[in-house]
Amino acid sequence: MRVGLLTSGGDCQSLNATMRGVAKTLYNKVKDVEIIGFLEGYKGLMHEEYKIMKPSDFSGILTEGGTIIGTSRQPFKLMRVIGEDGFNKVEAMKKTYKKLNLDCLVVLGGNGSQKTANLLREEGLNVVSLPKTIDNDLWGTDMTFGFQSAVNIASEAIDCIHTTAASHGRVFIVEVMGHKVGWLTLHAGLASGADIILIPEIPYDINKVVDAIEKRTKEGKRFSILAVAEGAISKEDAKLSKKEYKAKLAARTYPSVSYEIGKQIEEKTGQEIRVTIPGHTQRGGSPCPYDRVLSTRFGAAAAQMIIKKDYGKLVGIKNGEIVGIPLQEVAGKLKTVDPNASIIKEAKAVGISFGD
Ligand code: F6P
Repeated sequence: MRVGLLTSGGDCQSLNATMRGVAKTLYNKVKDVEIIGFLEGYKGLMHEEYKIMKPSDFSGILTEGGTIIGTSRQPFKLMRVIGEDGFNKVEAMKKTYKKLNLDCLVVLGGNGSQKTANLLREEGLNVVSLPKTIDNDLWGTDMTFGFQSAVNIASEAIDCIHTTAASHGRVFIVEVMGHKVGWLTLHAGLASGADIILIPEIPYDINKVVDAIEKRTKEGKRFSILAVAEGAISKEDAKLSKKEYKAKLAARTYPSVSYEIGKQIEEKTGQEIRVTIPGHTQRGGSPCPYDRVLSTRFGAAAAQMIIKKDYGKLVGIKNGEIVGIPLQEVAGKLKTVDPNASIIKEAKAVGISFGD
């Protein structure tokens, strides 16, 4: 058996742990198996850049962040676009797959990568994919690997801000990653006792945000902490068309939404504001134990699917059980936070403001 393996898109802490789960299971269960690691994601598949992996490559990597085979972003929207030099990416990937006589391609990736995985499935390749992203925005699975590790880091960042915010009596904004969704901000904000949580799924009214800060000030609280998703959006901006909003973002003079919110709060309250952006630290370091367990389970399940020739699926988790979801059902769908979910109600019950 020959299995191709690639990691695609933004990295996360638990990619190696997941590949280890796939590889160890295959080596254990299949008598004659060769794993080919494509370098830097789909790019390696396109350009025949790969490494024939050895079992020892997968040893000692359970706790190692990053990816031992590298990754890159290869936008899905460009997959079918022929290069100026006539390079056909899809045909090139199919050619490599056939030339190497692969039985299956294993893709570890987020939303865009799942769309490409589905495209390759439509093109006749055997694909099994795994849900990687700190954003937890993949439809079809309750949890993606990398998410909990990122929650830990973002929470620790907010924890550290707590002590300095309390000392100085300042308003602090911590901007959390998550792309277009608020899972990471919501969980990190809750885990570290943020006073205000702003997520894209619940557009904010800046006056409500200011009211929440002033209420705390009146109660004698010397500081306030806002966990703001990088994709947070105001109620006015949420009314704009996609095109208008894009144009507005392009014209924005602030580096990110947090600075804009910070300026508005400063003007309206006169309080001293600081913005902290943990940025890519949220994707770095060692996976947390939860992710190590999830990745091992995901990897082992993916290998079992390959052995059973149960292709064309994303490995996911539903109610604690590992499931396989057809790629065509997953591709192109975003899992967002439901503003009416009980977690939001519970957060509001303890006094957290969502600025709505
Ligand atoms: O999808 C993971 C993610 O970290 C998002 O949260 C973030 O918006 C994006 O990737 C950043 O991408 P890049 O690493 O390309 O700057």
